[in-house]
Amino acid sequence: MIVVRTVADLRAALRERRGGSIGLVPTMGALHEGHLTLVRAARADNDTVVMSIFVNPAQFTEQADLAAYPRTEERDVALAEEAGVDVVFAPDGGEMYPDGFSTTVSVTGSVAETLEGAQRGRAHFDGVATVVTKLLLAALPDAAYFGAKDAQQVAVLRRLTADLNVPVELVVCPTSRDDDGLARSSRNARLSPDERARALAIPRALQAVTDAAASGIRDSRALRDRALDVLAQGMIALEYVAFVDPETFEPVPQVDRPTLVAIAARVGATRLIDNTVIDAGGS
Ligand code: PAF
Repeated sequence: MIVVRTVADLRAALRERRGGSIGLVPTMGALHEGHLTLVRAARADNDTVVMSIFVNPAQFTEQADLAAYPRTEERDVALAEEAGVDVVFAPDGGEMYPDGFSTTVSVTGSVAETLEGAQRGRAHFDGVATVVTKLLLAALPDAAYFGAKDAQQVAVLRRLTADLNVPVELVVCPTSRDDDGLARSSRNARLSPDERARALAIPRALQAVTDAAASGIRDSRALRDRALDVLAQGMIALEYVAFVDPETFEPVPQVDRPTLVAIAARVGATRLIDNTVIDAGGS
């Protein structure tokens, strides 16, 4: 495995590998089992696996969150190698955003402006869209791998790649969960044992909604009430429980088609998101 730090070196490393397929796993480091699941999927599908590690300041709308984001490059590089990554692309801020950088890739409409886009501000998905466009153009992969936990990010990137005719397949891997059901996230490391126990209200609320839908409840408001009952037990600061179309993020009032149930909440100082898809069959 090699580690490269510039776009020029990444392109040079990939030049001789272009005969085979290339899979890209974009990350911000602080790798956990969820990232390694993406690497394993990329490894199974491709001749070459590239992982990018870059804590993208442009997508952080809170300075404190950016400052607290774990940076563990040495460990990440070792884990990447063990998981079968061929090339790690770990640029610094100057490489990604050199002096004079003045371009923003911005997806508009419900898909980018609601839920995470509304809570974190426009700059969040603009930052994600811009950096992922740069990563895709730098690596020119056949496929790029993302986790279903970031469902809105995936929907924004699907819109972006469709609108700009970017020739890449977006592969979405199921949310990786700890044994207790909590969705894996680099931010979980910041939870105290008590906060972690309370955070379990989030996956439990999603399960309660899934069960209620399976029992025949279709009205999103009634399903939302089920979620709120469970979330109240966690004593967490809820930001939203939303029932939306998984592609457009328009609200779904009646669950008569596949519907994304998305939750965001703060547990102590840590902001967590999670989601599940339910349909009229409740699964
Ligand atoms: O999901 C993430 O870790 C980031 O949003 C991504 C896709 C690596 C862009 O910085």
